[in-house]
Amino acid sequence: MSPSSSVSALDPNLDSSLNSSLNSSLNNPLSDGSEGGSETQVRKADHLRVCLEEDVQSRRVTNGLERYRFTHACLPELNRDDIDISTTFLGKRVATPLLISSMTGGTEQARLINERLAKAAQRFGLAMGVGSQRVAVESPDLTATFSVRAYAPDALLFANLGAVQLNYDYGVSQCQKAVDALEADALILHLNPLQEAVQSEGDVNFKGLFAKIEELVRVLPVPVVAKEVGNGISAAMARRLMSVGVAAIDVAGAGGTSWARVESERAKDAKQRRLGNTFADWGIPTAECITSIRAMSGSVPLIASGGLRNGLDAAKSLALGADLAGMALPFLQAASQSETALGELCEALIAEIVTVLFCTGCGDLRALRRGGVISQSP
Ligand SMILES: Cc1cc2nc3c(=O)[nH]c(=O)nc-3n(C[C@H](O)[C@H](O)[C@H](O)COP(=O)(O)O)c2cc1C
Repeated sequence: MSPSSSVSALDPNLDSSLNSSLNSSLNNPLSDGSEGGSETQVRKADHLRVCLEEDVQSRRVTNGLERYRFTHACLPELNRDDIDISTTFLGKRVATPLLISSMTGGTEQARLINERLAKAAQRFGLAMGVGSQRVAVESPDLTATFSVRAYAPDALLFANLGAVQLNYDYGVSQCQKAVDALEADALILHLNPLQEAVQSEGDVNFKGLFAKIEELVRVLPVPVVAKEVGNGISAAMARRLMSVGVAAIDVAGAGGTSWARVESERAKDAKQRRLGNTFADWGIPTAECITSIRAMSGSVPLIASGGLRNGLDAAKSLALGADLAGMALPFLQAASQSETALGELCEALIAEIVTVLFCTGCGDLRALRRGGVISQSP
């Protein structure tokens, strides 16, 4: 999508001040009222621009869900209107088992996108994460670009910081600030070694982090979720993360947005660009993460994400054992277009999930997960 097409697609029914504000911020993403912008702020603006304008998805690796199919029930013995897709995650009820994956914050454009996403989360009963809050820890005046609780008073909300920051002077107090800014229900610590390795300015000291996460988990009053950013979490890593007290895993597997590709698009030199391109398809496909982690533990709270693109992908992930299904890029594309486009996406995703339950004879998600409705294609 070109920037001009994003701008022209703005929702004519929207509050005109919000539209003109997003319109101008799409053309000037750092328009936060301050001059210039910190290095982190520039990076955040770059990420939105690259993800909206370039093809940043994996090309040779898929999410792996195409290898599974549902067994069609020709007589479901259900009234479709009675189907219940609500669930509970980390003790909080969610009406729809979908997560708007962690993405943005720190610029005026990001604030507007977060506002739209949060309103949709509230309206459709989705869970939502915000992007890394490091930029607001560095510059507290940017906290408002993440603070979406007022728009989503009932949603399950996730704060977000990079786990590696625990090796760069971050501790409980910075994590607590991130949680407080959002009145978040939990903190996501993202794990992104490949992304950091491809960034020319990346933080690459990942040594000793299990111990630091263990210390944090012991003190922080909200649950901590460990999440990748598109390269997946193996069963062995999930086991180790759970053993240090992490409350849930978001696999963010390979097959969707490729951060090696995103970083190679904004690389400053040919060496970084080549590194990103070489690793563009690196990672464990999402389906493999879910099935291997579920085989290792039947009880770990599990989010499937990475390359999910419709409600059928989401339903397959749930049937394979995930508790929630997350998507990033599809929600970003819709939110940058208009509130209407975002609402239509949510409605379509919900209709697709309900249709899977109807056509497999499952009245609720527990029935979908009980087994026997999904199998590997021959
Ligand atoms: C623009 C953008 C910014 C992102 N920023 C973050 C971030 O700050 N923290 C994080 O944990 N993940 C971040 N992600 C990764 C997503 O949460 C997700 O794990 C990844 O994009 C794979 O999902 P997808 O294939 O549905 O896009 C970002 C994704 C996008 C598209």
